[in-house]
Amino acid sequence: MNKKTLQDLSNIEGKVVLTRVDFNVPIKEGVITDTNRISAALPTIQYLLDKKSKVVLFTHLGRIDSEKSKDSKSVKIIAQKLVELSGWKVKFISETRGKKLEEAISNMKNSTIIMVENTRFEDVVNGKIVKNESKNNSKLGKYWASLGDVFVNDAFGTAHRSHASNVGIASNIKESSIGFLIEKEIKFLHNTISNPKRPFVVLLGGAKVSDKINVIEKLVKKADKVIIGTAMCYTFHLAMKKNIGNSLAEPNSVNLAKKLMKKYGDKLIITKDSNCSPTFADVKGEIHDEVPNGMIGMDAGPKTIKLVKKELKGAKTVVWNGPFGVSEFDNFKYATQTIAKTIAKLKGATTIIGGGDSAAAVISMGLSDKFSHVSTGGGASMEFLEGKVLPGIDVIQEK
Ligand code: 3PG
Repeated sequence: MNKKTLQDLSNIEGKVVLTRVDFNVPIKEGVITDTNRISAALPTIQYLLDKKSKVVLFTHLGRIDSEKSKDSKSVKIIAQKLVELSGWKVKFISETRGKKLEEAISNMKNSTIIMVENTRFEDVVNGKIVKNESKNNSKLGKYWASLGDVFVNDAFGTAHRSHASNVGIASNIKESSIGFLIEKEIKFLHNTISNPKRPFVVLLGGAKVSDKINVIEKLVKKADKVIIGTAMCYTFHLAMKKNIGNSLAEPNSVNLAKKLMKKYGDKLIITKDSNCSPTFADVKGEIHDEVPNGMIGMDAGPKTIKLVKKELKGAKTVVWNGPFGVSEFDNFKYATQTIAKTIAKLKGATTIIGGGDSAAAVISMGLSDKFSHVSTGGGASMEFLEGKVLPGIDVIQEK
């Protein structure tokens, strides 16, 4: 990958730099609960301000499928958070197009910031679902591109989407580059994995084998060990003819699981025991090697945790994607938290968390600075790890 980076841009002083960020952050009862994605984009914005350009920020927030859904999805609250985190002045424009936005941009002074309203508000126009942003409507991409001189894409979390605010703008503007965040994501998720220091251990959790099959196949070839966590393990347990009670599993993927175990043998490690519950609820569980009838496997058990700790000992590259249990429940977050603490303590290792719930667990434990890289991509980091081309990066000009 040889995409233009910020330093490759020609003189951007006084230029309007349309900057796509992914500030699609979790919000509960009007409060942003995780600011990682905002903080991670600050170096790019700082660089553009230092170079005396005029920064116009675009982001989406959530999904918009009706006029009503716009009520709780304005990005104004994010503009305020950006001010709080950075100390910069940010002018929020409550439109995604039109005179107000155009005038605000033409009146910008160097080293100032405008933030445009949620790009996905363009998906519903006058109550009609049109998906102008999400289906990369060519007029919209051209229009947004006409508002600026240069496009910088730093929205890694959205790079697997081909939308008007990334691919559309980039295809219609003279100059484009990736930002520091995407550069960092590529460095960790691509370069580290292509040439890992060994032992290289991969941990894959989450619910569905079918979601992760490509990533398992890709990484098992490169890694020394791939550990499959709860609940994905139950499809493998079915393949081993183990009892799984009412645990989540995919009978359609059992043959696939058998094939993988046969092909990769002891490179593939499957959880040994489970913390089980009679219902999918946050109650005290029971440890069993095989999930009894009527119960659900909710978390990895102590034998599994011991084994994971043993495999992680001395590891020099670790990639982790997906929690090892129902980590949002206090009674079933033990395995995920213990794994997070174990990885955080590794010495001299490159440790990468590939977004989503496992990243959220590490951030909520205050351990993110103990990891080499906490990816800001959920779906994007998965697709990147699978080796797929991400359209939001692919569209950026080569050096
Ligand atoms: C994410 O949170 O994964 C990105 O912001 C993309 O969001 P989307 O899945 O709604 O396109």
